[in-house]
Amino acid sequence: MPATVIVGAQWGDEGKGRFTDLMSKDTELVVRYQGGHNAGHTLVVDGESYALQLVPSGVLYEHITPVIGNGVVVDPRVLIKEMDTLERRGVSTARLKLSGNAHLILPYHQELDAVSERYLGKNKLGTTKRGIGPAYADKAARIGLRVQDLLDPSIFRAKLDIALREKNQVLTRVYNRLPIDAEEIARIYLEECRPRLEPHIADTVSLIHTALEADKLVLLEGAQATFLDLDHGTYPFVTSSNPVAGGACIGAGIGPRHITRVIGVAKAYATRVGAGPFPTELTDAVGNHLVEVGHEYGTNTGRRRRPGWIDTVMLRHAVRLNSMSELAIAKLDVLDDLDVVRVCTGYEIDGRVHTDLPYHQSDLHGAVPIYQDFPGWKASLGGVRERGELPQEAAVFLDFVAAQVGVPISMVGVGPGRDQYFVWTSV
Ligand code: GDP
Ligand code: IMO
Ligand code: MG
Repeated sequence: MPATVIVGAQWGDEGKGRFTDLMSKDTELVVRYQGGHNAGHTLVVDGESYALQLVPSGVLYEHITPVIGNGVVVDPRVLIKEMDTLERRGVSTARLKLSGNAHLILPYHQELDAVSERYLGKNKLGTTKRGIGPAYADKAARIGLRVQDLLDPSIFRAKLDIALREKNQVLTRVYNRLPIDAEEIARIYLEECRPRLEPHIADTVSLIHTALEADKLVLLEGAQATFLDLDHGTYPFVTSSNPVAGGACIGAGIGPRHITRVIGVAKAYATRVGAGPFPTELTDAVGNHLVEVGHEYGTNTGRRRRPGWIDTVMLRHAVRLNSMSELAIAKLDVLDDLDVVRVCTGYEIDGRVHTDLPYHQSDLHGAVPIYQDFPGWKASLGGVRERGELPQEAAVFLDFVAAQVGVPISMVGVGPGRDQYFVWTSV
């Protein structure tokens, strides 16, 4: 059976978690393939809200095996806390599998994330300060520690000592911080975390391939998003992994031929957290309306998200980067009360119209969006469960977005609840 990727088509928080949960009904494995606890994926089921950071969004279904793939960076303390919280709420995490090849986030990664942001001053990226960038940097520099190192205390200690030799120099001499104690890390990671995580550590590549070979559906759940991608996003205002669909191959350990469906998730508008270019950003009352009605405050850090209109220049580019087969649109209901809804179709840059994303990022910083305006529907969509129940104005808006982006819209969210969606086109 083929694999399906769910990928953020904008700057994150599009509703990947809720669509992953939806798609999990017919799935065997749900695999997180990159990122770490910078992600915050919210699911609302029977009025109960679950905010997941590392545990894949399929966990609420008992038939699912949730898998944390090799491409993820894992802070074991955070993972255990998340598992405990789920267990307390009656959600079993017994089936969770954690790749032995996933890299560990260590306390110095978090500290370095925070101090390097401080040193960037007004040029800071606005990271989540979770240690994500420093952990991936160590992975690339080949001085990272992996989950499987927890199983071999002498190797764990040796690698930790090597890493700390450099980290403590940097922390004390460059950033004027206190050195980090190896003993304390070894105690927490090896004595507290290891016994709890050991039953979950697995060869996830084998697990995924066994499922594919048995004709089971594997769902690959992206975190962050296309325009936060290290290679394809608005660098340097990006995360340090590859959220794009290609990243799923690497972060799960499968070849591209297994992936036959790529669902790009976008809001009916757009948001961004942290710094970086955002051509359709709104700093007016409409922007405030989107933030308040859409509850646009980070699941994870509580930060106010920057609001803006939906941008089909970026979405067209996201289709290319991800081989997106379809779009899932979330939060259409957030536009319910607006008189006018806008769709960005192009940019004016130095007097010229561009309908493709400019290659040079300086151009993006100066891009003036060109909009097509649509009358609002001024009706509550929260109860819509099929295409036919949608007001004409909302249908025109969605059809226009799909035509601009060039792929069908398959599902549309009209509220955070599990059942608050409808199928637009069967893909
Ligand atoms: P993710 O990071 O892509 O999984 O998205 P987040 O969970 O960070 O942010 C999406 C937020 O929107 C969450 O609070 C969801 O409960 C909520 N949400 C998702 N889909 C819809 C929708 O269709 N309508 C509304 N009103 N809220 C939604
Ligand atoms: P989900 O999976 C939105 C942003 C941060 C910052 C940049 C780099 O919930 O969509 P990092 O800590 O990753 O080094 O920060 O990326 N960012 C996100 N924005 N949603 C996320 O995850 C994000 N994860 C990271 O705000 O701008
Ligand atoms: Mg989120």
